[in-house]
Formats: sequence, structure tokens, C-alpha cells
Amino acid sequence: MKTVLTEKKDGVLTIRINRPEKKNALTPEIYAEMAAAITDADQDKNLHAVVLTGTADTFTAGNDLQNFLDAPPDVENSPVRDFLNALSEAKLPVIAAVEGHAVGVGATLLLHCDFVYAAEDAVFQMPFINLGLVPEAGSSLLLPRVAGHQRASEILLLGEAFSAQDAKEAGIINGICTPGKALDTALATAQKLAQKPRKALVESKALLRREFEPLAKRITREGHVFRECLASDESQKAIHTFFDRKKSGGARP
Ligand code: COA
Repeated sequence: MKTVLTEKKDGVLTIRINRPEKKNALTPEIYAEMAAAITDADQDKNLHAVVLTGTADTFTAGNDLQNFLDAPPDVENSPVRDFLNALSEAKLPVIAAVEGHAVGVGATLLLHCDFVYAAEDAVFQMPFINLGLVPEAGSSLLLPRVAGHQRASEILLLGEAFSAQDAKEAGIINGICTPGKALDTALATAQKLAQKPRKALVESKALLRREFEPLAKRITREGHVFRECLASDESQKAIHTFFDRKKSGGARP
């Protein structure tokens, strides 16, 4: 059975981690396939969003612990690093759909996603401290930014499991849904994104994801991209549609 399943449909790439017998624990092969799928999606002009999900009762139990013992991954050059690079630099919005457990990198990877939806009985954990390890995947930087220092300390220094409600209050997830409905909820958002002008979508995400820079520099950067987008066919068409509908007495776009 394939451990990563992909499907492209209606402008959306869905990547499903499919190793249920091991709680979707991530192997170098799974990381490599997910990295390739995300990188490929960025080049596909027909796609507007990527949805990342697991199986019915598990998102992922994180890195395969046996693999940690057998072959600790190289810091700069390894499938896990390729995956984290692809995810953190993804051009298209990435939406995660979480059912069941999201543990270790299964939880920290969510910090790189743009939207996260979880079932109300989902369970999150960043248990690195309990394993004698430290936070990874940029989580020591991203989690305090998202959740604040105190809450990040609770999650990373105590290493306890927490609920979907806790994850929502910490700002890690966007929404909570009925168990079994996380993928549908993620796909509904993906469909909304599929209707957006692609260039504006990609450029907006890039601006949102940029590291800190002085405000004046950011305003200038936005201005350059704004002008570039304004000249695009998609933008010109949308603005003309606004005036045409007004002239014919129709609703605004
Ligand atoms: N790496 C390797 N194998 C894993 C795994 C992981 N991260 N997580 C689960 N598995 C395996 C188990 O060893 C077990 O295999 P077996 O049937 O051959 O014995 C199988 O998946 C089922 O796991 P089990 O622990 O029995 O399921 P559960 O429903 O009782 O618990 C979890 C689910 C996710 C809470 C639990 O498996 C867990 O805590 N896993 C480890 C999470 C972790 O520490 N990740 C790494 C962080 S750095």
C-alpha cells in the first residue's frame, strides 16, 4: 500500500499520509514524497491550494521513532529537511485537516500551514522534552509568535497532550469541526481559494509569510507587488467586471 496518496481535483492538491498501522509515523520515504508533491504543486498553474491530511483516526504520530534510533536525519541534507523546506517555502496556501493525534512534527508542521482545521476530539502534543529532545521544525520560533511565550512554554516545556479547544485558543488552528469532517472543512476552504486570482493569492501568501522587516520597507515591498498584480489580466478583469456590473445594475463582484 502506498504511504502517501495524492489527488489533484478542482484546483486543489490533496496529500494524504497513509500509514495507519503505525499511526502515520513519518519515514524518510514519506517526507520525500510529500516534499516532491508540494514542490510540484507550486509549479502547476492549475492549482490554487494544497490540503494535507492523514487517515480516519490519526493525522500523524510524528517522526518514526525507530528511524530516529536507526538513522538520525542529517540536519541540512535529509528528506525531513527537504519536506520542511518545501512546506515552509510553499507558494500555494497549505491547509491541514487533523483527525485524531497530531504529535511531534505532526503538530509542529501545522505552524507552517496557512489554515488548520481539526476534529473536536483531536489530540495535539509536542513531546520533545519528554524524549530528552528539543523543539524542531522552527517551532521554538513560530510557537511563541503564534501562542505567546507563556503558552508556548506550557506546550514545549511540559510536553503534555492538549485538546483542539486548547489548540484553537493558542492560535494553532483556525477551526474545530465534528469528528470525521476535518477533510471536508479543509476542502471547503480550499474551494474558496480555488476561486481567487492565483497570482494575487501567491503574492499575498508570500507577503504574509515574510520574516520581520521595518514597516516602511514592508509598505514599499507591498507597493511593488501591488502594482505588479494590478497589471495582471486577472486584476484588470475583476476591476472591469465591477464597473460593467454597476453599469448594468447587477450585484458587485
Ligand atoms: N514511530 C514509530 N512507530 C510508531 C509511532 C512513531 N512515532 N507512533 C506509533 N507507532 C506505532 C506503535 O509502535 C504501534 O506499532 P505496533 O502495532 O507494531 O506495536 C502502532 O504504531 C500503534 O501505536 P499505539 O501506540 O499502539 O497507538 P495508540 O492509539 O495507543 O497511541 C499515539 C497513539 C500517537 C498516542 C502513540 O502511538 C504515540 O504516542 N506515539 C509516539 C508519538 C511520538 O512520540 N512521536 C515522536 C515525537 S518526536
